[in-house]
Amino acid sequence: MLIVVLLLCLSIFLLHRKVSQEAKLLLKGEHVLITGGTSGIGLEFAKLCVLHGCYVTVVGRNATRLEEALQTLRKFSKRVGGREPAGYLFDVAEANSCENLFAQAEQKQGPVFLLICCAGSCIPGYFEDLDPKVFESQMRSNYFSAVYPVQSAFKRMKDRRRGHIVLTSSIGGLLGVFGYSAYSPSKFAVRGLAEVLYQECLPFNVGVSLVCPPDTKTPGFDEENKCKPRETLRLSQGAGLFSAEQVAKEAFKDIIYRRFLISIGLQGKMLVNVCSGFGPQVSLFQLLSMPLMRGICFFVQRQQEQIIKDEHLRRRA
Ligand SMILES: NC(=O)c1ccc[n+]([C@@H]2O[C@H](COP(=O)([O-])OP(=O)(O)OC[C@H]3O[C@@H](n4cnc5c(N)ncnc54)[C@H](OP(=O)(O)O)[C@@H]3O)[C@@H](O)[C@H]2O)c1
Ligand SMILES: *[C@@H]1O[C@H](CO)[C@@H](O)[C@H](O)[C@H]1NC(C)=O
Repeated sequence: MLIVVLLLCLSIFLLHRKVSQEAKLLLKGEHVLITGGTSGIGLEFAKLCVLHGCYVTVVGRNATRLEEALQTLRKFSKRVGGREPAGYLFDVAEANSCENLFAQAEQKQGPVFLLICCAGSCIPGYFEDLDPKVFESQMRSNYFSAVYPVQSAFKRMKDRRRGHIVLTSSIGGLLGVFGYSAYSPSKFAVRGLAEVLYQECLPFNVGVSLVCPPDTKTPGFDEENKCKPRETLRLSQGAGLFSAEQVAKEAFKDIIYRRFLISIGLQGKMLVNVCSGFGPQVSLFQLLSMPLMRGICFFVQRQQEQIIKDEHLRRRA
């Protein structure tokens, strides 16, 4: 029985490796469009793409930030003798904007081959204190900002029978975390979208990846920390803090292999594994480590509950 299981695991593993190797993305000379490419993780993706010889387009809403990002990217592109990066000011949480954006960007840099959706924000707070409007604005900022550019990209990629779409969720999009009642559900929604898109893209040779970063030191993260409950701070400490460069670099490697569920760091990788559910793609590591990891989660959860109780007592005192 054990041998049969092991053989099964091995064959899935070999098959998976073969599939991922065949499907490796070749990005040189391809147009990569990055929403949220003017700051943090998105900007780091943009730098990597420039260094890989891609034709890069970045999108944001703030003109100062866009200009600064373009300056940085130009330096990178000069270094490798690449094509001048392009930038646009659009709110990608608006459906019409995205059609305009794609029309303009494709005219300049050619057909979009890789879309990286990195636009997003996080507003933490105690559930009962959050303004009801925040729940809507977080859906807009994180979910709709993914839906609209993907719609514009997908119909184009589908016609060309090539392309890859990257969505950005979060560890908080895989599990609920104290203080993220507005943020987490919007990132869960992104994950749901990615699983559906994976299937709908399949017949058209278009791939989908879902990146779930852990806490990452970015301008957005500094902003979020200004109003973060102490519980949230303490609960997330366990998973560590990563640099935007490291997150983009590690995720980029997995994107090139067209992996579906992607995270960074040991804890991040363990969490995406244990939260993989009915998602596509299975690895041997996942099959074998699942029961052990679920066991570890049990102890982590006990610890977390203790932190929440401690903080409650502290606040009452
Ligand atoms: N940092 C973390 O700890 C962390 C953890 C997990 C997941 N994430 C996710 O990773 C992504 C990047 O995060 P980050 O920390 O690098 O954020 P960041 O530094 O705040 O950068 C966010 C980028 O998105 C752009 N943006 C936001 N909303 C937009 C919209 N509606 N239309 C166009 N552009 C928009 C911003 O530009 P403008 O402001 O100029 O529009 C900026 O370029 C986000 O989706 C975030 O939720 C981050
Ligand atoms: C735009 O970005 C600049 C540079 O990061 C920042 O100083 C400014 O406050 C931002 N403006 C708005 C309206 O967010």
